[in-house]
Amino acid sequence: MSQITIKVNGEMLVGNTHQPLLEQLEQSGLQPEFQCRNGVCGACRCKLDKGTVSKQDTMAYVAAGEILTCASVPSGNVELEFDYQLSFVAKKAANL
Ligand code: FES
Repeated sequence: MSQITIKVNGEMLVGNTHQPLLEQLEQSGLQPEFQCRNGVCGACRCKLDKGTVSKQDTMAYVAAGEILTCASVPSGNVELEFDYQLSFVAKKAANL
């Protein structure tokens, strides 16, 4: 398992090379759009500006240069661009 950087709409996150990008974005506190989490709906689509990913076979349409974050595991550092502003999950007060 390698530690990598994931740049998302200009924000830098720490990631890995063994989990789908959708999970990693969520674990970092981001709320990307999704529905099926299985490569069918296309809701999690974004542009892959830099880097490479390992892709599962999917049914959803993606244009050239786009990936499905639920079905893509980064091979190294990547730069992603969503065409909407990603929000962060409000952090809950710890141990209250
Ligand atoms: S969430 Fe449906 S294709 Fe990724």
